[in-house]
Amino acid sequence: MIDGHTRVCGVIGNPVEHTMSPAIHNALAEKLSHNLVYVPFHVETGEVAAAVKGAYALNVLGMNVTVPHKKEVMEGIVEIDALAEKIGAVNTLVRTKGGFKGYNTDMPGLYRAMCSENIRMEGEDVILLGAGGAARAVAFLCAEKNVAKVYMLNRSVEKVRMIAQEVREKTGKECICPMALSDYPDLPDKKYLAIQATSVGLFPDEDRAVIEDEAFYKKIHTGFDLIYRPSNTKFMKLVRARGGKAYHGLKMLLYQGIIAYELWNKVSVPEDLAGEVYEILKEKMGIKDEG
Ligand code: ATR
Repeated sequence: MIDGHTRVCGVIGNPVEHTMSPAIHNALAEKLSHNLVYVPFHVETGEVAAAVKGAYALNVLGMNVTVPHKKEVMEGIVEIDALAEKIGAVNTLVRTKGGFKGYNTDMPGLYRAMCSENIRMEGEDVILLGAGGAARAVAFLCAEKNVAKVYMLNRSVEKVRMIAQEVREKTGKECICPMALSDYPDLPDKKYLAIQATSVGLFPDEDRAVIEDEAFYKKIHTGFDLIYRPSNTKFMKLVRARGGKAYHGLKMLLYQGIIAYELWNKVSVPEDLAGEVYEILKEKMGIKDEG
């Protein structure tokens, strides 16, 4: 029941109407018997700092930030976590004295999703497809988790070069090897963990993968697509057709939410509860697989 003690959390974005985050947080609050409600806030570009300041004044407990505000929101916060600063994107706001502190739980969320599937990053050879906002964050995660090497492929190779340089400067790691997308036949003959971080294959563009050549997929033992709509992307189908394991991005969404919830409420969400919330998300998405 909403009453005088109910705490408010929410997500700001534009558009925000299709967000799955209320399903995650309201389920967690219910199962943990927290008096908390989580709602979407549609915020226009240019209004983000004002929205964040207003939320703080309204004693809002915590906020998530989604597309396209993950950079602009940095203007409205008083402090930023070191990882979020490196990545250059904030998706979670936590109350501190005098204002909100910004975090990035997307990348820890991806890492926890991979751990829950027993996918290792440490020491792995990784293929990272893309060089947009999502891929950039994954590049920093790879550096932080001490992967052996990241072959980072993108249509415009100049973007990858810039990210490789930033990763080198900010982490001291030389692990990123920039490549043009079309140069994938030159990848050393090894078995890779591949992370798909382009927007190719996203609904309603479901029949496409960023690399369609089946020969490429021989080199992949595990494919992780950050896309979860659809839940069986063309990339995943191509990985599986060549004997690899493939995963969609819904668990990353789940865990970025769980980590935010943990920061706001100073609790640790056990794995069995994470599993229950995941089932709710899968049902909402109409996903029947085990992934
Ligand atoms: P996000 O924030 O989700 O990462 P983004 O920053 O717009 O989104 O990045 C989209 C990524 O998908 C980029 O790597 C983009 O490649 P370019 O940097 O060369 O534009 C990639 N992408 C989008 N459409 C593509 C296409 N048709 N073929 C190849 N790559 C594509």
